[in-house]
Amino acid sequence: MLVLGMMSGTSADGIDVVLARISGAPPNLNAKLLGHSSVKFPGALQKEILRVAEQHPVSAGALSQLNFRLGELLADAAIAACRHFRIARSKVALAGSHGQTIFHQGRPVPCFGLPTASTLQIGEPSVIAARTGITTVGDFRPADMAVGGQGAPLVPYVDYLLYRDEKLGRVSLNLGGIANITVLPHAAKPQQVFAFDTGPANMLIDALVSHFTDGRQRYDKNAALATRGRSLPALLDDLFGDPYLKLAPPKSTGREYYGHAYLKNLMALGRRHRAKPNDLIRAATIFTALSVVDALNRFVLPKTKIHQLIVSGGGAHNPLLLAQLSAALPGIEVLPSSHLGIPEDAKEAFAFALLAYETFHQRPSNLPSATGARGPAILGKISYAPRR
Ligand SMILES: Nc1ncnc2c1ncn2[C@@H]1O[C@H](COP(=O)(O)OP(=O)(O)O)[C@@H](O)[C@H]1O
Ligand SMILES: [Mg+2]
Repeated sequence: MLVLGMMSGTSADGIDVVLARISGAPPNLNAKLLGHSSVKFPGALQKEILRVAEQHPVSAGALSQLNFRLGELLADAAIAACRHFRIARSKVALAGSHGQTIFHQGRPVPCFGLPTASTLQIGEPSVIAARTGITTVGDFRPADMAVGGQGAPLVPYVDYLLYRDEKLGRVSLNLGGIANITVLPHAAKPQQVFAFDTGPANMLIDALVSHFTDGRQRYDKNAALATRGRSLPALLDDLFGDPYLKLAPPKSTGREYYGHAYLKNLMALGRRHRAKPNDLIRAATIFTALSVVDALNRFVLPKTKIHQLIVSGGGAHNPLLLAQLSAALPGIEVLPSSHLGIPEDAKEAFAFALLAYETFHQRPSNLPSATGARGPAILGKISYAPRR
């Protein structure tokens, strides 16, 4: 089966699209990546998504409009990708679209007298299905939450299929807006896999760069700015006071925590330590890398031997992040996911192609050990393509 996978993560930088050929069923599922492409969000739309995701006021009407408008954009991305892959859309059987997360409350909090957890991804799948002519699975997270899970992370199921090894203990690390890891002990059974968000990935770096360049730059390409900054160890020490780091997994985080308010504190901290813009960008980069290392040292390495750290996501292109990880993890081989066949920028979209395939075949694809769910759940909702 030919399947498209589409992802737009918390960075809201754009849409990654992959085409995969998938056959069989776990544990003998075969998935081959055939191509990947990406489109950037138009600047004004990105700004609005970030504004909404930061929980600034938005009317129900505006949100409804944005949901459909993003559906159009995702459909455009899918159509452009098929053209790029030189594949007729009629040959593509299925698409999986994660959508754009604008709110995620993984742990229940009171709501009209009942502890309630919820999540909202927008980018209307019915629009994608109608425009592309490809049946589309969307809204993956709610089914896991409906059975008590945090609705995240979902990629561990795919990490298990792709990276579990008889002899090697592995950690799969994705550096998107947020950093998340999947721990795959050698010869792991599904119940032994665990996963959680370690903290920020590119989110703080991007926010600082946007701020200091007045929006002219959206990220620190190849760590050019951070590399010019000075190291300020005392500032880093303060950053490590972050209570999220000490919170025991399972845990997930997002823009709700590492968003605007966090940035304001970071800027205040920078002023207190007399940090120049590049110093602060450097500190955020090093903090990001070392918060991953801290999570490994605190929650993973005492329990299981790890041989390899497989890194994906846009942050895998940041040389300072990677160098810091390698230096702080002696005895662990740090390698970009492309070394194992999946380009860094294609990994998450590839995962949603696989998850859509599982849903289409009515198989559950949450890992309760990763999400905290009471049991398995078939993820997502299917929007059928109009008859051809
Ligand atoms: N060459 C690069 N150098 C430094 N950072 C990069 C580079 N390429 C991408 N990034 C970072 O990766 C981010 C996008 O990562 P991505 O995996 O798409 O995250 P998300 O899943 O949250 O959308 C960008 O916002 C940027 O911070
Ligand atoms: Mg992205």
